[in-house]
Amino acid sequence: MSSSTNEIRRLTVADLAKMRADGQRIAMLTAYDYPTARLLDEAGIPILLVGDSVGTNMLGYDGESRVTMADMLHHVAAVVRGTSRALVVADMPFLSYATPDEAIENAGRFIQEAGAQAVKVEGGVRTARVVEALTRAGIAVMGHIGWTPQAKEALGGKVRVQGKTADRARSVIADALAVQEAGAFSMVLELIPAQLAAAITERLRIPTIGIGAGPGCSGQVQVVTDLLGLGSFIPRHARPYAHLRETILEAAQKFAADVTAGTFPGTEESSQMDQTVLDEVLGRSALDRSEGVLGTAGSAGIPLDRDL
Ligand code: KIV
Repeated sequence: MSSSTNEIRRLTVADLAKMRADGQRIAMLTAYDYPTARLLDEAGIPILLVGDSVGTNMLGYDGESRVTMADMLHHVAAVVRGTSRALVVADMPFLSYATPDEAIENAGRFIQEAGAQAVKVEGGVRTARVVEALTRAGIAVMGHIGWTPQAKEALGGKVRVQGKTADRARSVIADALAVQEAGAFSMVLELIPAQLAAAITERLRIPTIGIGAGPGCSGQVQVVTDLLGLGSFIPRHARPYAHLRETILEAAQKFAADVTAGTFPGTEESSQMDQTVLDEVLGRSALDRSEGVLGTAGSAGIPLDRDL
């Protein structure tokens, strides 16, 4: 972010609070690697979340619960290295915050070793004491309620919108309040009916960031591979702003065709050396070359590299 003196600095949680107070909607994207993080930072995305969705989107795992602290530290550090403006949020992986002590130890690693500015913790009422312990320890926490992928099995094993019935809606509201009162600076609302997400957003003091939660949130997050159209499946709530899957397929196929045809590399992609230097190295004379006996391996039975 540029301040009044125009120096480049990282966005802070105070800046986010101000954006919300000013009615400015907040864009957040997931990021998993250095080159993409650089581009998203250059594009001015204020928050980059190194989500545990790195597992399914980048590492080929079959679910979020397979993602480890080691995986996350590796990717968070790469994203931090690629950014100078964005607030980088590290997703706490499954079981890394089972107790407040474990949470502080692992979140501390994201801040100290990988350079993240904040961490994200799934769960509402059930993890409020962890959020509280982290904020007391001085770590900025983003909550995550509604559909929480790490609890997929506990939530019935099937991805579904949370809070459609009166009971479930009350429990989502209770989750939101618990996370806010525990000290979170913001929270993700995932797969919640739009009216409920808007009602929660109106009642909270902190910004909500929606995904599949309608337009009434303080901001929106998308998974970067969905945004870029990189995956073979794009969820209904996502909007691809590019179609990199097709672009990459086409590029790879064209490259392979050029290699097969011998049209890559061409002279413009190759470098040249002084021919006399090569003649000297190969022990051949200009005459040998002009007679064309060299360079057509074996055509006259003369070895190409007789002096080597
Ligand atoms: O890991 C992730 O990508 C997330 C977003 C869906 C918010 O948690």
